[in-house]
Amino acid sequence: MRSTDGASGAERRPYREAAHYYKARPPYSAALRPALAEKLGWIGAGRLLDIGCGPGIVALELAPTFSQVIGLDPEEAMLAEARSATPPRTENVAWVLGRAEDIPALNLGRFQAVTLAQSFHWTDKDAVAEIVYDSLESGGSMLLIHHVDPSVGPADASSIGTGDQAVSPRHLHPQIPHEVIDEVLVRWLGRGKPARDPNREPYHDLLARTRFGEPERLVLPGRTDLIRTVDEVIDNYLSTSFAAPDLFGDQLPEFRRDLTAILQKQTDTGRFWEWAGDTEVLIATKRVG
Ligand SMILES: C[S@@+](CC[C@H](N)C(=O)[O-])C[C@H]1O[C@@H](n2cnc3c(N)ncnc32)[C@H](O)[C@@H]1O
Repeated sequence: MRSTDGASGAERRPYREAAHYYKARPPYSAALRPALAEKLGWIGAGRLLDIGCGPGIVALELAPTFSQVIGLDPEEAMLAEARSATPPRTENVAWVLGRAEDIPALNLGRFQAVTLAQSFHWTDKDAVAEIVYDSLESGGSMLLIHHVDPSVGPADASSIGTGDQAVSPRHLHPQIPHEVIDEVLVRWLGRGKPARDPNREPYHDLLARTRFGEPERLVLPGRTDLIRTVDEVIDNYLSTSFAAPDLFGDQLPEFRRDLTAILQKQTDTGRFWEWAGDTEVLIATKRVG
C-alpha cells in the first residue's frame, strides 16, 4: 500500500497527470446546450467565461451559442488537452492560464455567462462568487454545473431497438462496480473515494448569501447510453484528484494490472454500463439595474 500523505500537500497538482485521462469522464446531459440557450436567451452574441475549464468540455460544448468563449484553468496540462480538443478553424475560443481568484487582475472583460462545471469547490468560493458577479453584465448568469448523485437512478432509461425488442443498455452490461473499485483503492492508497463533507454549505445557500441572491435549480436528464470498456473505467478514476496518477507513482502500471484483472471478472461482455447521474445546473443571475 502506498501512503497518500506525502502527495497531498499544498503543492500537489493532481490534474497535471490526470488531465491525460480526462476524456474518459462521463459527459453532462445532452440537453445542456439547448436547454440553457433557450432558458437564458443565448443567441450567439454574448461572451462566456468557463472557470476551471479543464480540458474544455463545457466551453467547447457551449461555444456555438456565444460570440466569444474563454476557458480559464490554472493547470497547463488541462489547457493543453483543451487546445488539442478544439476543432480546427474554431475562432471564438481562447484558453487562458489562471485561477478564478486572479480574474480581477486578468482583465478579461465582461461576460453574459460564467460557468463553473465541477470546479467551484476548488476555489475560494465566497470570494469567487463575488468576483464572478463583478465580471457579469447586468442580467448575466453564473452557472454551477454538476452531475447529481448517481445513486439516484435514471428517470427514463433509453433503449436500443423498438417496441417489444427494446433493450436498455443498462440490461446489456453490468453497472460499473464502484464499491469493488473503492476496495481496490483502499488497498492501494489507504482510502477510497472521499465521502461528501456533510458540513459543506449547500451551494444554493452560499449563493443566496451573495449579491446574486437565491439561485434557480435546473435538473437535466443524464446520459443513459454510456457503455465503457475496462480501460475507460480505469481512466475515469485516474482522471480524478482522489485517484490521480501522481498518487501511484511508478506503481501505476501495477495498479492498472491489478484493477484490470478484478474488473474483467465483473463483466461477461467486457463492458460496463455507466450512470453518472442527471446534470444539475444552479443558475445565479445578476439582476438588471
Ligand atoms: C474536476 S475538474 C473540472 C473540469 C471541467 N470544468 C469539467 O467539468 O469537465 C476541476 C478543474 O478546476 C481547476 N481548478 C483548480 N483550482 C482552480 C482555481 N482556483 N481556479 C480555477 N480553476 C481551478 C482544475 O485545474 C481542474 O481543471
